[in-house]
Amino acid sequence: MKSTSTSTSAAPVGEAHPASVTIDGLHKSYGSLDVLKGISLDVAPGEVVCLIGPSGSGKSTLLRCVNLLETPQKGVIRVGDVEVTDPDVDIDAVRRRVGMVFQQFNLFPNMSVLSNLTIAQRKVLGRSDAEAKKVALHNLERVGLSDKADNAPGQLSGGQQQRVAIARSLSMDPELMLFDEPTSALDPETVGDVLAIMRDLAREGMTMLVVTHEMSFARDVADRVAFMDGGVVVEEGPAQEVIGAPQHERTKTFLSRVLNPTAVDHPES
Ligand SMILES: Nc1ncnc2c1ncn2[C@@H]1O[C@H](COP(=O)(O)OP(=O)(O)OP(=O)(O)O)[C@@H](O)[C@H]1O
Ligand SMILES: [Mg+2]
Repeated sequence: MKSTSTSTSAAPVGEAHPASVTIDGLHKSYGSLDVLKGISLDVAPGEVVCLIGPSGSGKSTLLRCVNLLETPQKGVIRVGDVEVTDPDVDIDAVRRRVGMVFQQFNLFPNMSVLSNLTIAQRKVLGRSDAEAKKVALHNLERVGLSDKADNAPGQLSGGQQQRVAIARSLSMDPELMLFDEPTSALDPETVGDVLAIMRDLAREGMTMLVVTHEMSFARDVADRVAFMDGGVVVEEGPAQEVIGAPQHERTKTFLSRVLNPTAVDHPES
């Protein structure tokens, strides 16, 4: 590709390409507790895969293995052409490529929203103040919060703080975004705004691996859904099929509980 730019930066800002993820035979245990018991899961570039499953099934642990917040004992994970599980891998380089959004937003409370978005760009990516600010403002606009740049995070609602956390991740030009229950700590009326941002991101072609209990989001936005239970993927397939017509008994039971949270199990049934 012909370039007329005089910039010396290696990659143009905002032009990271979505990566694939390949997980093969992943095992993770804590002492004698086997948490992941041979997980295999692929996500194609630009694909959205939702992970669903009961508490303790290993969903967060799986996400945390993908960006090396946890080290698995066995198995292979690749993000694009990088083998994350290679013992010699550059961990910082992996984390630069993989954005993660948590249930708790983890913003720096004593910094403005804008500084929350620029600090890692400057320190990790080596961007100039001006460049980092330009990227940050662009991403604040993407999440509809341009007017909050100078506010402190504590002055924003939970939903707005989560949108800032997403904008902060996007400012690092990730090739893959991991979301771990990004809406489960939010007031119900702010959940929709965060899901709308995630839906936009999916439409724009980001590769996304999303742990969520929002079944309508999973059904409407995910390309595929994987149901985990007891450290294995029990069932995986197109979102409409897994949620609309689950094949396995455990998936059926889980979905009926999630979709009817106030229903009381009948002891005789
Ligand atoms: N650092 C740790 N040390 C010991 N055990 C852990 C650790 N992290 C997770 N576990 C255990 O691993 C299992 C899976 O936890 P994980 O957080 O991955 O589940 P989850 O599917 O994300 O659940 P939830 O829906 O409640 O978030 C649990 O039994 C948990 O107690
Ligand atoms: Mg979890």
